[in-house]
Amino acid sequence: VQNKTWTAVDSYTQEHVHPTTSANHKVLLDALRNSRDKGLPDIATAPVVAKMYALQCKANKVKHALEFGTLGGYTSIWLATVNPELQVTSLEINERHKAVAQENLEHAGVADRVTIRLGAALDILPQLAKEIESGAKPKLGFVYIDADKQNNWNYMDRVITLCEPGALIYVDNIVRGGSILDAENPEPRTQGARQVVENAGEDKRIDSVVIQFVGEKGYDGMLMAVVK
Ligand code: DHB
Ligand code: MG
Repeated sequence: VQNKTWTAVDSYTQEHVHPTTSANHKVLLDALRNSRDKGLPDIATAPVVAKMYALQCKANKVKHALEFGTLGGYTSIWLATVNPELQVTSLEINERHKAVAQENLEHAGVADRVTIRLGAALDILPQLAKEIESGAKPKLGFVYIDADKQNNWNYMDRVITLCEPGALIYVDNIVRGGSILDAENPEPRTQGARQVVENAGEDKRIDSVVIQFVGEKGYDGMLMAVVK
């Protein structure tokens, strides 16, 4: 569902709270343009949502953020440009996406603080866990799950132990125009959204909420969890 008012409100408010004079304005647009030119799907996180995540990292003074699903690196560029002290680990299974994202990170000047790891996230996580447990990397203060939706819960379940208390974990594309209500929907993306919401509610290690939103990307929403 698209709605002209939602998009217009995003445009108007962003002109004021994130004007074209903002330090990262150009590199973010360049990343989107380059990703489009190189044929990546147009499913990057909306600017207002990516900026909200960046500001939450800032508010919590996060040292290490983890992203599932790099795509063209758009969200990583937001996180890293707003937070000069932050290191980002981003997991991507698609070699082409990783190559385009790497170009975008270098162009944005954040390639030294954003590390893309290529492969299936469930294969990479044990190695990352070792690095965090040995102290080679800081515990996670922010996690963004935005990859293959059928693994939403697997990612959430495994990442909680790598987080510091108070860490935020977000899962994208939970509402999808209301399709989350359809228990019979065989679409793995719908089932992945339902599973992570239902399991999060049962999990004693986290406290969770689902937030619906509208904007230039239509009607969707995210699950937010705080690690206890
Ligand atoms: C799709 C995936 C996303 O992560 C998103 O935000 C929007 C769409 C998709 O696979 O269609
Ligand atoms: Mg998404």
